[in-house]
Amino acid sequence: MYKIVSIPGDGIGPEVVAGAVSVLRQLSKKHSFDIVIEEHAFGGASYDLHGEMLTDATLEACRNCDAVLLGAVGGPKWESLPHEYKPEAALLKIRKELELFANLRPAKVYDALLDASSLKADVVRGTDFLVFRELTGGIYFGQPRGFNENRGWNTMIYELYEVQRIARLAFETAQKRKGRVISIDKANVLEVSQFWRNVVHEVHKDFADVELSDMYVDNAAMQIVRNPKQFDVIVTSNLFGDILSDIAGMITGSLGMLPSASIGTKHALYEPIHGSAPDIAGQNKANPIATIASIAMMFEYSFHKPDIAKEIEQAIEATLAAGFRTSDIANRGDNVVSTKEMTEAIVSHIGT
Ligand code: IPM
Ligand code: MG
Repeated sequence: MYKIVSIPGDGIGPEVVAGAVSVLRQLSKKHSFDIVIEEHAFGGASYDLHGEMLTDATLEACRNCDAVLLGAVGGPKWESLPHEYKPEAALLKIRKELELFANLRPAKVYDALLDASSLKADVVRGTDFLVFRELTGGIYFGQPRGFNENRGWNTMIYELYEVQRIARLAFETAQKRKGRVISIDKANVLEVSQFWRNVVHEVHKDFADVELSDMYVDNAAMQIVRNPKQFDVIVTSNLFGDILSDIAGMITGSLGMLPSASIGTKHALYEPIHGSAPDIAGQNKANPIATIASIAMMFEYSFHKPDIAKEIEQAIEATLAAGFRTSDIANRGDNVVSTKEMTEAIVSHIGT
């Protein structure tokens, strides 16, 4: 039995989460496992109901389940709230409280969508790498932090155990892929980065079968757009990973298609990388694929069922190959389908 907390959230969140839930139900029928899905509020939806973005009840539910599925949070309605009430603050809180120290963002190019990339098809064809972004440390959380009229300050700090655990996870994952890790830092300028680099190399001693190299973050930004195929696994700190994973996502040309996993030792949360897209919310237009692909990551990383993960990915690929396109990935002349039609097509490719 799998117990999943579903958090539809704001904007298109409820529509794409509904798509992912249909896929979950189909899989549970097909493979005869039980799932319990418990819905909770988070983000703007929670603020409107309870006056806070993240309630203790939601947090508690997330602590007591096998995996959390999140749609998207935020929107213009809540943008003018003070900093500590913003959805971003709630997102950082949930990451920290559940100790989701590793954020995995795959950059995978679907052959059916090669033309959607802003880069030449030849450059991106076959791109398939995975970014491991450290998620609960670094400059996002370091103290001291603040600002006054004369200055603003944050602190980039990493503890030994924080670098060790993300490095280990990246190496372990690389062993199941092409066996290559590139650690990205700014060790030519920042002491914290030199420390990061030293620790990653120390951890690497336990993974002789994995190839490790280092890259400066500015060069990495350039290399991702120059030749994305050179990457297999990237491991990097919180802020660098935030920036690089956006670049990595964009070159695939399909932001509406990319999933993510945030995992820790005890908990895990899965969500599409895209936002709440308030402009198309409630119109049955959103692309549910990123959220459905997040379910594939859930089966891989939380439930340790890589075969089911593959099955979901294949159903997505088959649906694309059959010509199904939501408006975000459609070219002129394509037959545009709705969120529900895309979901139904994927569900039927999963079959019974
Ligand atoms: C992300 C987002 C968040 C981050 C924001 C919304 C706090 O950009 O998940 O990448 O910076 O981590
Ligand atoms: Mg970001």
